[in-house]
Amino acid sequence: MAHPITQAGEPVLRQKAKKVRSFGPSLDALVKEMLEAMRAADGLGLAAPQISVPLRVIVIEMPAELDEEGKEIHPSELYVYCNPEIVEASGEEESQEGCLSVPGYVGQVRRATAVTVKGEDTKGRKIRIKAKGLLARAFQHEIDHINGILFIDRVDSPEKLRRIQADEEDEQDGYRS
Ligand code: CO
Repeated sequence: MAHPITQAGEPVLRQKAKKVRSFGPSLDALVKEMLEAMRAADGLGLAAPQISVPLRVIVIEMPAELDEEGKEIHPSELYVYCNPEIVEASGEEESQEGCLSVPGYVGQVRRATAVTVKGEDTKGRKIRIKAKGLLARAFQHEIDHINGILFIDRVDSPEKLRRIQADEEDEQDGYRS
């Protein structure tokens, strides 16, 4: 069974997570557990503190793009980053976000439109990506998690945070992880 998602209120979500220094089977096992938990919860991403592991590891899975008949025009994309860091950010846009660790709320969050992220893969090899739009938002949301920041901290006025019912959760647009 997938690991349950750690909920806001738990101190692990408010800590600065530790740097990954050992790249081996236990890291692979952690990533596997994170992917299972993310998919079981129907999220687009997850950070290790969300399964109570205080390490700088994030996963993001962008869904496949389908045409009107449901045929896949672009496959899903999976990103696994250890020790991710934003090295460049540009632009600004506000869009809806939610978080598996803060169920029952969505908010309008201002994020950079494009970011360059560097980090390491699960073998410790250097990787880097230039992301924009939803993917850029995903990296910013997940990197916030490993720094102890939740999206509700970034909602700049109370009217931009909205309560939703449990049955509305899956119908929400925007980023959720
Ligand atoms: Co989240």
